[in-house]
Amino acid sequence: MATELGRKELRPAIRALRPEDARAVAEILRQSPEAVFWPEASVREVLVWEGALGLASEVRAEVVGFLIARQMRDEAEVLNLAVAPENRRRGEGGALLRAAVVEFRKRGVRRVFLEVRESNAAGIAFYGKHSFSQAGRRERYYREPVEAAIVMEILLAE
Ligand SMILES: CC(C)(COP(=O)(O)OP(=O)(O)OC[C@H]1O[C@@H](n2cnc3c(N)ncnc32)[C@H](O)[C@@H]1OP(=O)(O)O)[C@@H](O)C(=O)NCCC(=O)NCCS
Repeated sequence: MATELGRKELRPAIRALRPEDARAVAEILRQSPEAVFWPEASVREVLVWEGALGLASEVRAEVVGFLIARQMRDEAEVLNLAVAPENRRRGEGGALLRAAVVEFRKRGVRRVFLEVRESNAAGIAFYGKHSFSQAGRRERYYREPVEAAIVMEILLAE
């Protein structure tokens, strides 16, 4: 029983990302050079785009991870996803990605895709673990530093 309670406490709590979380998101991004950096204002702006989906993972009422995606008809793109370095490898990223896929299924999405830096072995392994497969490569997609992107996708059955 004690063990079960302990596990439950560690389970990430996923909720909708709110505009007031933008500062925490920008702070996580500052510590995540593998992700695309967005300042607070950009985070708030993206959240009001049509089809946007923003999710936060919380530990003890503190935002430790987030995912921002956008749906365009029957496709959705994960635009940004990061977990604070000290909270990685505890299932936060996986919980965020699963919650996004569940929501997109409900919205009738057939394909979820994303771009990831070619050198981001952890990111590529993470998406691979969640059944995303490599669908292409975009040369010189990123700046600072210039680098190719690997496009990864998952096809959702009806
Ligand atoms: C990618 C990222 C979001 C994963 O978050 P996380 O909370 O650590 O992920 P999880 O704990 O849910 O990991 C699930 C699985 O993904 C894989 N994985 C995650 N990090 C990995 C790493 N550093 N190396 C290899 N595999 C990794 C593993 O299979 C892991 O399962 P395991 O821990 O049982 O081995 C996180 O590493 C991160 O924020 N990175 C910086 C930003 C980034 O790269 N974002 C993605 C591109 S935009």
